[in-house]
Amino acid sequence: MTQTNVGPSATAVALRQRIEDRTALVGIVGLGYVGLPLALTFAEGSYRVLGFDVDRAKVEALSRGENYIRHLDSSRVPRSSERFSATDDFGRLSEPDVLVICVPTPLTPQREPDMSYVVGTAREVRSRLRKGQLIILESTTYPGTTDELVRGILEGSGLRCGQDFYLAFSPEREDPGNSRFGTATIPKVVGGVDAEGGDLAQAFYDKVIARTVRVSSARTAEATKLVENIFRAVNIALVNELKIVFDRMGIDVWEVLDAASTKPFGFMRFNPGPGWGGHCIPLDPFYLAWKAREYGISPKFIELAGDVNVRMPHYVTEKLQQALNDRSKAVRGSKVLVLGLAYKKDIDDPRESPAFEILELLRHMGASLAYHDPHVPHAPRMRTWPDLPPMSSVPLTAELLSGQDAVVIVTDHSAVDYEFVLRHAPLVVDTRGIYRDKSEKVVKA
Ligand SMILES: NC(=O)c1ccc[n+]([C@@H]2O[C@H](COP(=O)([O-])OP(=O)(O)OC[C@H]3O[C@@H](n4cnc5c(N)ncnc54)[C@H](O)[C@@H]3O)[C@@H](O)[C@H]2O)c1
Repeated sequence: MTQTNVGPSATAVALRQRIEDRTALVGIVGLGYVGLPLALTFAEGSYRVLGFDVDRAKVEALSRGENYIRHLDSSRVPRSSERFSATDDFGRLSEPDVLVICVPTPLTPQREPDMSYVVGTAREVRSRLRKGQLIILESTTYPGTTDELVRGILEGSGLRCGQDFYLAFSPEREDPGNSRFGTATIPKVVGGVDAEGGDLAQAFYDKVIARTVRVSSARTAEATKLVENIFRAVNIALVNELKIVFDRMGIDVWEVLDAASTKPFGFMRFNPGPGWGGHCIPLDPFYLAWKAREYGISPKFIELAGDVNVRMPHYVTEKLQQALNDRSKAVRGSKVLVLGLAYKKDIDDPRESPAFEILELLRHMGASLAYHDPHVPHAPRMRTWPDLPPMSSVPLTAELLSGQDAVVIVTDHSAVDYEFVLRHAPLVVDTRGIYRDKSEKVVKA
């Protein structure tokens, strides 16, 4: 009788042992908002961690023990040590037993997945891949990336997935600025391209993450992450559209939402705002839309949510224009202060923030612009808004506020004294529902 060998291979057993006894060297590729907290979580979990990044400035900062992510507790970033170090020497990719890839997945100008970072990293790994390594992709992406694209590149080395090396996908669910949940306490979804890859990846995360959720495949794990973000994108669009409808009807959307939220079941609150922002919600849904077209389907909710959310900065500037008009003023020549540049409260991340689109629209209309953001001292140059001049946050003084024609609240940072703003500014356009009472000075947008 022939016997099939169903147990893990000797290579997998050895790797698992190193994971279990924490002698495995962990490599994190891409030390940004996702990769750095993850690297620190494994270092704090008594693993030796080697971080990789193409950005020399980040590597040097980490070597000095300097933190470059504001919402991250700086005491967590140790000076380069036996436990944690960073490098831009990709020749060392062969050293780690486990390599976790956390590089960006943006969109091209045509709103299609830009896989160049993932592909570039997979090729770097391929040229140093050795037997017994576990590779995990964390970057948000379309279903099939790990077991079609990444696997294909890695197997170009001549090594076989599931025999010589192992491969899995585990989406990051980082919520920057969330004080209740961090990397170690957010349940982690894990799916392997095969059972062995999934088992090893699950064992790996089980050592430092409170709860792992195993799914049947890498594709399922990739789809799970996209569903989470599409759910947010669509609901944000819905509530933004309702805001416009209710505004026309003379109904305050915030009062409606407060009341609707008292329903103890079947309702989940989303708040309207000036649009959508960040590296995830405005981008990730289009990864699925793109892949779905390969299957002859064009998902309508995703496109519709995009249309509504992208229009919101226009709605905000139209409300401002109207309010200035009511005061016999034009946007051209008016002094406008944008309050908050980050895409959401209490973080320093301005990527894809609707604040830039609002600034660009107002610049185009001839407004004289300034911004204040306690978390973003300088506005970085943005690829999407190349005409915006370099700007720095101005101090929020009574003189500054009273000298404006209007203040537009884009981000509701906790560090801002909104009563102070209202006291001194002549007109405030509130996109975040800060001011609930009616006031001559406040326009809700
Ligand atoms: N920021 C979030 O809250 C969040 C949440 C969930 C998922 N994600 C996903 O995680 C991934 C990473 O996002 P992020 O916010 O950490 O991005 P980020 O831009 O903050 O970090 C990416 C890092 O990768 C580095 N990098 C770029 N190319 C590289 C390469 N070839 N090799 C090594 N390093 C390279 C960059 O210098 C940067 O430090 C994306 O796919 C994103 O969609 C992000």
